[in-house]
Amino acid sequence: MEPILQLSLVFVGKDGVWVFFHEAKDFVVLIPRRYMKKRELRERMLELREGMLHSEVAAMSKTIHTYLQSLPSFRNAKNIFLYASTRNEVETDDIIVNLLQAGKGVAIPVVNKGTKEIVFSFIESLDELMPSTYGIREPLPNSLRPVALDSVDLIIIPGVAFDMRGYRLGYGGGYYDRFLEKLPEGVHKMGLAFDFQVLEALPVEEHDLKVDTIITEERIIKVE
Ligand SMILES: Nc1ncnc2c1ncn2[C@@H]1O[C@H](COP(=O)(O)OP(=O)(O)OP(=O)(O)O)[C@@H](O)[C@H]1O
Ligand SMILES: [Mg+2]
Repeated sequence: MEPILQLSLVFVGKDGVWVFFHEAKDFVVLIPRRYMKKRELRERMLELREGMLHSEVAAMSKTIHTYLQSLPSFRNAKNIFLYASTRNEVETDDIIVNLLQAGKGVAIPVVNKGTKEIVFSFIESLDELMPSTYGIREPLPNSLRPVALDSVDLIIIPGVAFDMRGYRLGYGGGYYDRFLEKLPEGVHKMGLAFDFQVLEALPVEEHDLKVDTIITEERIIKVE
């Protein structure tokens, strides 16, 4: 298979090492080395996750759901920000259904590509979700119920990888970092991942924010 990016020049500048690539379409992009490490990791980790069988994803997601229900921060939460799972992320459909049945508030992200921000909207049923930006299911535009940030107790977020300090690697848009920055202190932040996605230490930048707890099918990691 043809590589998408071809390395053509490495340049050491005052901002660090910059790497010049030739893209297949013939233009050149500049990527600082520390950022490229995130990119490489992202690609490798996504490849592993996408190679999982659906039966494995479903079984491990079920175990993670069970762990989640054992946590007071989950059981006691009244309004929860939760993602709609896609591309072999830890599945959340059953979690959403159970929470709605229990009368909890469940809010799902809506992506705004223009502002690079996500806003959360309460849903009343999974049927209100439809594939949208990036192919991720979102509440339909005619059923948007925006959520006040101070009305939420818990946010549950997906990741391409996490590390033992609670740092997270996402798809690379910075959407969650921008959102978490706006949340009031005291909102519990939980990451859901399969155990192979938890690494010792991820490359981090100043804008990267941490989660408080990571739940996998093997363990519950409480970040110090
Ligand atoms: N709080 C922020 N304010 C402004 N820009 C930000 C902020 N957080 C992240 N960014 C920008 O977003 C880009 C992607 O960030 P990063 O590589 O951390 O993505 P990510 O955490 O993997 O993505 P995502 O959160 O969407 O899953 C970076 O170029 C970064 O400068
Ligand atoms: Mg980030």
